[in-house]
Amino acid sequence: MNAILDLRNVTRRFAGLVAVNQVSFTLGEGEILGLIGPNGAGKTTLVSLVSGTLAPSEGEIYYQGRPITALPAYRRARLGIGRTFQIMRPFPGLSVLDNVAVGALFGHADGRPGLAQAREQARACLDFVGLGRAAGQRADELGGPGRKRLELAKALAMQPKVLLCDEVMAGLNLVEIEEVISVIRKVRDSGISVLVIEHVIKAIKSLSDRLLVLHHGEKIADGAPAQVLADPQVVQAYLGKRRA
Ligand SMILES: Nc1ncnc2c1ncn2[C@@H]1O[C@H](COP(=O)(O)OP(=O)(O)OP(=O)(O)O)[C@@H](O)[C@H]1O
Ligand SMILES: [Mg+2]
Repeated sequence: MNAILDLRNVTRRFAGLVAVNQVSFTLGEGEILGLIGPNGAGKTTLVSLVSGTLAPSEGEIYYQGRPITALPAYRRARLGIGRTFQIMRPFPGLSVLDNVAVGALFGHADGRPGLAQAREQARACLDFVGLGRAAGQRADELGGPGRKRLELAKALAMQPKVLLCDEVMAGLNLVEIEEVISVIRKVRDSGISVLVIEHVIKAIKSLSDRLLVLHHGEKIADGAPAQVLADPQVVQAYLGKRRA
């Protein structure tokens, strides 16, 4: 499998803290890679290093074989690296549709669509994530599950080739989680490679082709989900004392 993303010895320090420590991994084209680890393990930091909202202290990141480590976030987005945010930040006064249209307006590699076209694309993305009926609502009227879907739709509107999902199932009930899982499968089936951060083990196990575990910023496991989840080091670091 060709790697669409390739991280080599990536480290990020914050003052005295090493949030991500010499992490190397690849994301294969068309793959769903799960990323788990205790709170504070460095998962969100890793996503920010890939999307470009944070710069690594050391290491290199390759996308489609090209180094992107020095590129700003907007350039990476236009090349096809999309992400959702764990701390969601919709434009509260805008409609759900226009929140997504913003992504369609600014995310493109090849020219900017007009507003009407951006809204058309936004509507397709909302339908894709099952939020089509809420298109006319204000974004701040959405409940938790709706906001998670909105995050996904916003990221998809930028037509990514890689989608980085940071806890898009947090706070959802089991039925809602199943729905998001099927959306993410659909995303992959549409040709997008996906990295998913998730605490719900059952969900991540059924969704991921491969599973990566971070602990204190270090990669402690990388492999087939069932095998990784049975790894004694993973059980001790994470599963034994994971949050409810
Ligand atoms: N901007 C920052 N400045 C200083 N420290 C930070 C910053 N961002 C993250 N950290 C620290 O880096 C470590 C990793 O944080 P990160 O948010 O990446 O963890 P996480 O695995 O996403 O955790 P969670 O499961 O709670 O979302 C934590 O100790 C955190 O406090
Ligand atoms: Mg996080």
